[in-house]
Amino acid sequence: MEKSSIVRPVILISFVIGISLLHYLTPLHLPYLHAIFQRLYYLPIILAALWYGLRGGLLCSLIISVAYAPHLLFQWGGHVTMEMEKYLEIILYNIVGGMTGLLSQRERERTVELQKTARGLEESYQKLQHQSERIISIEEQLRRAEKLSTLGEMAAVLAHEIRNPLGSIRGTAEILKDDYKPGDPKHEFIEIQIKETERLNRVVEDFLHMARPQPADMRPCPVQEELEMIVALVANDARERQVKLILQPPPFRVIIQADGEKLRQAFLNIIINALQATPPGEGVIISTTVHQATICEIRLRDTGPGIDAATLERIFEPFFTTKHDGTGLGLAISRKIIESHSGTLTLESESGQGTTVIIRLPINDPTSGGTP
Ligand SMILES: Nc1ncnc2c1ncn2[C@@H]1O[C@H](COP(=O)(O)OP(=O)(O)OP(=O)(O)O)[C@@H](O)[C@H]1O
Ligand SMILES: [Mg+2]
Repeated sequence: MEKSSIVRPVILISFVIGISLLHYLTPLHLPYLHAIFQRLYYLPIILAALWYGLRGGLLCSLIISVAYAPHLLFQWGGHVTMEMEKYLEIILYNIVGGMTGLLSQRERERTVELQKTARGLEESYQKLQHQSERIISIEEQLRRAEKLSTLGEMAAVLAHEIRNPLGSIRGTAEILKDDYKPGDPKHEFIEIQIKETERLNRVVEDFLHMARPQPADMRPCPVQEELEMIVALVANDARERQVKLILQPPPFRVIIQADGEKLRQAFLNIIINALQATPPGEGVIISTTVHQATICEIRLRDTGPGIDAATLERIFEPFFTTKHDGTGLGLAISRKIIESHSGTLTLESESGQGTTVIIRLPINDPTSGGTP
């Protein structure tokens, strides 16, 4: 750019000076040469018009007229009648300079206009692309919401179908319980059976109410005890799978405002996933820490096969599962529960690297977080 802004005037000036010198230095008895030089002037005029538009073309033709006029007046004697075509040539220089300049200027303005339109189109295209991406993502959210609302309808049917057999199981368990005295291990097993049946009943009801969210029963909740309860609940399953469940408690007792029942449901879903993923002989570590006395962070780390990036994107979708007997609801429900406690549930995983589920819950009870 910088280079052409110097080179172009130099070329034009050289042309004008060169051609003028040819005129002045060539003897007058060689008129055919003068006729050629006379036409050579069109070269710088057209170039100037192309490069600089109307003003450039006119300026160049004027300079040429001024440079050429003394040659006509003094060398040729300035006889208007004799050298008429030479005077007309001067007028023609200016017409050609002006016309070519005007046309090239218009062309250039049109190019600028076209470039502006192209830029506008590009911007519109990008806006359109952005909008369509937003539409796709909203559609995705709607699809998920739709799945969840169908879930509500399904839950109503399910609840009806499951409640009755659950009632029978509970009744039979109660009858069996009477046959064993408290302290008998079988009595305890039956107690667990009854407790689990009750829990199942509540889960079914929760499904029923998923479309109409219930107000949570928020109470002070000791996080570690809740985790221990769930670990005890799945201890048998873990033993069978030969997977160790390792609890790493926080340095002090952490109490948060939460619906204990729902929180346990979320913990259970995640611990079951970890148990299912961990190979025999290995373990799942459940550690709890406190950040800045305001956030309780629970990490559940397994040494399972991990999750590849494509699967990772979908694991929170209701009904997404890679298991032949999975419902694909565990994580979707757990996340909903944690979010209803103003917390976050995230998953860090890579293929072959195991999985860590991170639950962050706010500690908003001023009396909690520091009980030794
Ligand atoms: N700890 C984990 N390690 C590896 N993959 C996991 C882990 N947790 C979840 N996933 C993947 O996420 C998917 C969704 O999990 P989610 O708990 O929602 O459903 P599910 O376990 O398949 O079914 P359900 O919980 O109803 O039995 C799983 O199918 C599995 O592919
Ligand atoms: Mg699961």
